This record gives sequence, C-alpha cells and structure tokens, in this order.
Amino acid sequence: MAEQREPVVRAVGLTKEFRDFWGRPKAKAVNDIDFEIQPGEVVGLLGPNGSGKSTTVKMLLGLLYPTGGRLSVLGRSPRAVETKREIGYLPEDSYLYKYLTAEETLDFFGALFNLSKADRRNRIDQLLEMVGMAHARRRRVGEFSKGMQRRIGLAQAMINDPAFLILDEPTSGLDPLGCREVKDLIVALKKRGKTVVITSHLLSDIEDICDRVIILYGGKIRATGSLNDLLTVTDENRIVTPALQKPAMDKLVALLRESLDGETFRIDHPRRTLEEFFLDVIAKAKSESIETAGVVGGGRIAEYLSPDQSTSAVLEALVSEPKAPPAPAETPEPPPPDAAAVSNRLEALTAEPTAPVPEPEPQAPKAEENLDEANAKLNDILGNRK
Ligand SMILES: Nc1ncnc2c1ncn2[C@@H]1O[C@H](COP(=O)(O)OP(=O)(O)OP(=O)(O)O)[C@@H](O)[C@H]1O
Ligand SMILES: [Mg+2]
Repeated sequence: MAEQREPVVRAVGLTKEFRDFWGRPKAKAVNDIDFEIQPGEVVGLLGPNGSGKSTTVKMLLGLLYPTGGRLSVLGRSPRAVETKREIGYLPEDSYLYKYLTAEETLDFFGALFNLSKADRRNRIDQLLEMVGMAHARRRRVGEFSKGMQRRIGLAQAMINDPAFLILDEPTSGLDPLGCREVKDLIVALKKRGKTVVITSHLLSDIEDICDRVIILYGGKIRATGSLNDLLTVTDENRIVTPALQKPAMDKLVALLRESLDGETFRIDHPRRTLEEFFLDVIAKAKSESIETAGVVGGGRIAEYLSPDQSTSAVLEALVSEPKAPPAPAETPEPPPPDAAAVSNRLEALTAEPTAPVPEPEPQAPKAEENLDEANAKLNDILGNRK
C-alpha cells in the first residue's frame, strides 16, 4: 500500500493582515483559511483581483509572515532554507535582469543554488530547449517579447529541480501555442511527481490542467474541490453518438418525449473549443511545411514533451524523482545552498531589479562567498557591456 505522505502545504487558520505605519489594520488580505495540498497535485488558486492570491503565494514562499494561524510547506516552516531549496517560483511579473542573456540569466540563478558549472551547463541546455528558447540563448532578456521572458522565467523556476512549483500566471503573455506547451509541460511535471500551484485569471488554463481549485474572494475560501466534483452536472445526462440519420433521430425524439413526460430536452452538435480548432489549423499548416517568419520553436517543444523516449529522457534528467535522502558521500559533495543565497534568489525574483545584484544577508558568510561568485560574474558581464 502507498504510504501516507505529508501534505506539501498545510494551512490552518492562515491569516495575513496588513497594518499601516502606526500598526492600525489596513487590509485583511487573507482571512482565516484552511487548506492542504497533497504531493503530486496540480492546484489552481483562483479569485478576482485583490482576493488574496499573491499574498497567499508570498506566505508559501516565506516572503511574508502570516499574522495568524499556522503554515507548513514540505513539512517545515516556509522560511526554512531546506524548504526554499525545493521550491521553484515563477513570479507574476518577470523581474529578470535585462542586460543578461537567456543563458547568463539561468547560469546566475543556477549559481545561487550552488550548482556546479557542469550541472548548470547541462540543465541550461535542456531547459532552453524545453521552453523553446535555445535559438535565442545569447540574446539579452531585455530584448525579449513578454512571451519569451515568460519562457525564461519558467526555465528559471526549474533550474533547481524543485519538488514544489509555484507559478503565478504562467501563461500570461504567451500565444495559444505557447499556452498549450506550458500546459503540456505542467502535465509532464505532474507525471514526474511534482506538486504545482498555479494562479491564473484564464479559467480555461486552470480547467485543462488542475486536479483541484481553491477559489478565494475577500481573503476567504469560497469554494474548493476537484474539478470533476465541482463542474460535473449530475442531474443531467449527455449522450454523444455519431451523427444520426433522420429515422433514428425521430425514434429517439419520440422515446425521449414519452420518457421525459413533458420536460424539455435539447439535441445539438458538440462544439470544439477555439483552442482545439486553432491548434489544428497551425498543426496542418506545419505539416504542409508552410513557411513562417514567426516563432517556430513551439512545435519543437510540444514534440519534446510528448510521451516518446526522448521526452522521457529529458524530463528524467531535468526533474528527477522525489529525492531520496543523500547517501553518505565518498567524494566530498558540494555544499548545500545556504540560507541567504536561496532567500536572495526568491527576493531577487520579487524585487524590482534596480540594483543588478541582490544584497547578501550580513550574518551568513558562506552565502556571501557564494553570492560573491555570482555577483562577480554578473558584474563582469555587465561591466563588459558598458
Ligand atoms: N503590501 C501590502 N500592503 C497593504 N495591503 C496589501 C499589500 N499587499 C496586498 N495588499 C492588499 O491585500 C489584498 C489582497 O491582495 P493580493 O495581492 O493578495 O491580491 P491578488 O488576489 O493577488 O490580486 P491580483 O489578481 O490583482 O493579483 C488587497 O486588498 C491588497 O490591496
Ligand atoms: Mg496577484
């Protein structure tokens, strides 16, 4: 039997009240909510503007302190270094350093995780390929379109092979093909046992990939449950058949009239979604080798993520099974990412990049060394560009 695993997130009475300078309450952004997220679940956090989604996400990331209740992430405090090391985060807005190229950006974040040079190179190659940005690896992020920046943001969120991914509006700015690819990617990550929380205003995205949704309004949970339970209309039936000839249709209508005793019913043709139709049109154009001056990488990614051997191998390498506790090493292991370095990465992602490099926290000498190396590299790159 499968062993009972700890939930990835457990929130009990979670509350966040913002106060003004004098300590007077300003806004109760999150108001006494209880929820759990189980390993391997893809959960959608929904709600209108100002409903408390980002505040909840920031508490999960340990960037905001709850003012009430309890919150554990991966069985620990969200502020613990070990927790942050296992989280991948795509912020709502891409705060990427615009003077760095795509690969330098990933290298910078990889360095903050103390990944070795060889590991970084290997993962960066695979990630860029996976998000369809290999062709633009040496271009500066500042030149990228919003969709391209989103792709780099996603690659950044996966550089540390996280067990738990928090994606704030992952498909914003992407074209329909890009959206489909990102959705396929999230489904592929789920298959690898990753836990994913997504916030989005695009309900169809959530519907396509989430197992469960949590709907917030005014800082409270208004509805939660699996999409199947919430959306299945159990007091109606739908029967889908190949198109019926007139005699069969007449018989069926007569039977329904008799059985439904005057209740109304409807017979129509099912309708495809615009997304299905659009993707079909593009796939057809591609199969006929029609030329385009636009993005071509997209098709490659979808292929990459389809369940063939090469895809599995890549995902295998990128997102390994949930980690076993490290065996006693014969050769010395590289030191684990330390507190300030990992915290700095999350802070770097949520703060405006006014200064090119996040400040190291003063009380962590190891982090300074680690950051120093990353900073030196960054300054080097930026210096050369002046
Ligand atoms: N730093 C802050 N100081 C004061 N109030 C805040 C702060 N951050 C958020 N709030 C308030 O908390 C409430 C919830 O905000 P939050 O950003 O969590 O909403 P959201 O659901 O992410 O909205 P959106 O869909 O617009 O991103 C809002 O009323 C907002 O004004
Ligand atoms: Mg928000």
